[in-house]
Amino acid sequence: MDQLKVAVIGCGGHAQSHFRMIADEPRLHLAAIAEMDEDRLQKAKSKYRPDHAFDDYQEMIEAVDLDVVYVVTLPGHLMPIVITCLEEGLNVSVEKSPGMNSEDTEMMAEAARDANGKAIVSFNRRYFPEVLAVRRLVSEHGGAVHVGATYNKPLTTLGTLAAADLNPDPIISDAIHHVDLLRWLAGAKEDRAAIPVAVHSEVQDGERPGAHRQNATIRFDSGAIGVLMSHYGVGSRIQRAEVHADDLSAYLEMTQKPQVELYTATAAEDGTTTGKQVKSGLDLKAVGGPKFNETAHFVDCIINDREPWSTLDDAVHTMRLCEAIRRGHKGDIT
Ligand SMILES: NC(=O)c1ccc[n+]([C@@H]2O[C@H](COP(=O)([O-])OP(=O)(O)OC[C@H]3O[C@@H](n4cnc5c(N)ncnc54)[C@H](O)[C@@H]3O)[C@@H](O)[C@H]2O)c1
Repeated sequence: MDQLKVAVIGCGGHAQSHFRMIADEPRLHLAAIAEMDEDRLQKAKSKYRPDHAFDDYQEMIEAVDLDVVYVVTLPGHLMPIVITCLEEGLNVSVEKSPGMNSEDTEMMAEAARDANGKAIVSFNRRYFPEVLAVRRLVSEHGGAVHVGATYNKPLTTLGTLAAADLNPDPIISDAIHHVDLLRWLAGAKEDRAAIPVAVHSEVQDGERPGAHRQNATIRFDSGAIGVLMSHYGVGSRIQRAEVHADDLSAYLEMTQKPQVELYTATAAEDGTTTGKQVKSGLDLKAVGGPKFNETAHFVDCIINDREPWSTLDDAVHTMRLCEAIRRGHKGDIT
C-alpha cells in the first residue's frame, strides 16, 4: 500500500507527540510541515526531516500533494486552518480543544459534514489501549453504571491558561480530557461516547489567580451516572478515572503511563457476593496492542472509509458539557 502523505501545521510543544506517532506509523510519510515561527520551523525541519517546510500553511497545501493534515495550534488559531483543509478535501486531525467554545466546534463540524475528507478530534485518552481494554470489559459486563474522574493541578502548571489564544476556562482548555473520558467510558456498551442529558455542577473560583474548583454530577443517555472532580491550585497534578459495571470495577491511574486496578465480584452459594482484585484481566491485544493510539485509528478509518470515534460532531457534546460544568449548570442539558 502507498503511504499516506502527511503534514503537520504548528510545530510547537505538543506537535512533538504527533511527530513521534507519525514516525511510528508505517502507513504514514511526513511530506510537509508549516510553522509561522522561524526558529521552531527550522528545529522541526532538522529533527523530523519532512520533504518540504513552509512558514505559510496555505502555500503548503497549494504546493504539496497531501492526504492528511495534523493541525496542532492553540485553540484560538485552529478554526480557519481546519475549515480550509477540510474544504481542500484533506483528512484532518484537530487538536483539543476543538476551538475556543462549542460554537467554534459546531462550525468545524458543519464543514466536516460537507467535506470529502474525515476529521478526528485528538481526544487522545480515548485511544489509550488500557482505556479501550477497560471499555471492552465494561461492555462484557452490560455497560457502565457509574463513571468518575479526577483532574487536578497545582497553580504552577497553569501558566499557559492565561494566554490569549486559549480559553481561560480551565475545563475547556485542560480538564476537557477527563470530561471527554467520562463520556467515553459511560458509552462503553454501545461503542460510542455517551451523551450527557443532565448536569449538577458546583463551581468555586479561589482568591488566588488560576485557582478553580469544580465538582459535577452528570447523567448520561446510556443510563450511567458520573462525577467529575477537577481542581486547580491544589497539591499535585493527578489524573484518575474509574468505571463500574455490574460486578466489575476498574480504577485507572493516568497521571503517568496508565495503570489499571480491576475488581470483580462473584456470588457464593450462600448468596453473599465477594469482590476480589483480578491481576491479569486486561486484553490489550484485542484492542490493537500496547502501541495502539489515535494515529493508528485515524489511518484505519481513512483506509477503511470508517468514521473516527472522536468526530467533530461528537466533540460538540464534550464542549457543551464542559461549558455546562464551568457555568455551574443545574438541570437538563441538550
Ligand atoms: N492532548 C494533550 O495531551 C495535549 C498536551 C499539550 C497541549 N495540547 C494541545 O495542543 C495545542 C498546542 O499546544 P502547544 O503547547 O503545542 O502550543 P504551542 O504554542 O507550543 O504550539 C503551537 C504552534 O502553532 C503555531 N501556529 C499558530 N498558528 C499557525 C499557523 N497559522 N500556521 C503555522 N503555525 C501556526 C505557533 O507558532 C506555535 O509554534 C493546544 O491546543 C493544547 O490544548 C494537547
